[in-house]
Amino acid sequence: MSTTTRSPDTRGLDYLEIRGLTVDFDGFKAVKDVDLTLLQGRLHFLIGPNGAGKTTLVDAVTGLVTGTGLASYGNQDLLTMKSHRIVRAGIGRTFQTATVFEELSVLQNLDIAGGVHRSAWSMLRARRGVPTYVEEALETIGLTALRDKPAGTLAHGQKQWLEIGMLLVQDAKVMLLDEPVAGMSAEEREQTGELLQRIGHDRTIVVIEHDMDFVRSFADVVTVMHAGAVLAEGSIAEIQADERVQEIYLGHQPDTAAETGSGSDADEETTVTGEGSHRA
Ligand SMILES: Nc1ncnc2c1ncn2[C@@H]1O[C@H](COP(=O)(O)OP(=O)(O)OP(=O)(O)O)[C@@H](O)[C@H]1O
Ligand SMILES: [Mg+2]
Repeated sequence: MSTTTRSPDTRGLDYLEIRGLTVDFDGFKAVKDVDLTLLQGRLHFLIGPNGAGKTTLVDAVTGLVTGTGLASYGNQDLLTMKSHRIVRAGIGRTFQTATVFEELSVLQNLDIAGGVHRSAWSMLRARRGVPTYVEEALETIGLTALRDKPAGTLAHGQKQWLEIGMLLVQDAKVMLLDEPVAGMSAEEREQTGELLQRIGHDRTIVVIEHDMDFVRSFADVVTVMHAGAVLAEGSIAEIQADERVQEIYLGHQPDTAAETGSGSDADEETTVTGEGSHRA
């Protein structure tokens, strides 16, 4: 198979284009010359062993670390913008650890997140009722019944959904989600995947993930990173059939690994990740 990065047909669709992205931490290149085209309407997964540079790539695109190269969305070069402007440009992200305000209610968390698009004046005005876009986000993430509960009392999965809701009320057109299903039950994972499919049609969603069952179930496109660079990109079947990908995960046995690349992946073992590749 080919493991070169293919440029998808972007006509009529929004997309985030990354070209030659490099992040240099005092001589250590955590991200090396990465090209990625992230297209609206596809669930794009970013996988790779611990330390591959996945989070750093997202940090660079969202203005948390300095990157060189190009990361453009619309006509804007994100690498030259401050992080709050990037949020306003419609790029949202979540972190590997949940960042909700635990003492505040679900509703208050959403209301604060929605504030990024409100003027200071409208923030000061007392508002009656709950804005429609907040109601809609609550409905979408399935937390309407829990809206007045402190976020700290939510189950782990529900907190992650609240974070996704916070991106919805920010009207994020691009969502970069850093290991959103880590620590979730199988049922929560399934619900999260379905949520991402529901909201993904008119958005560009990128999911960093280690859980290969989850990737297999929901990925439209998979990019594999290793040592800061893109190693391979393609469908899950293509990725699983890629011997170099097998090698970075398993460190051996490309022949055994190749057997799993026969097309149907319905009852395969998890092959593109070994226990050693999971975070502790
Ligand atoms: N601020 C920093 N300064 C120096 N090195 C850093 C910094 N942030 C990350 N790194 C290094 O960059 C590399 C990539 O880290 P990164 O967190 O992007 O990996 P990752 O693919 O997200 O891994 P994981 O799956 O464990 O979350 C690692 O070697 C890490 O130690
Ligand atoms: Mg990471």
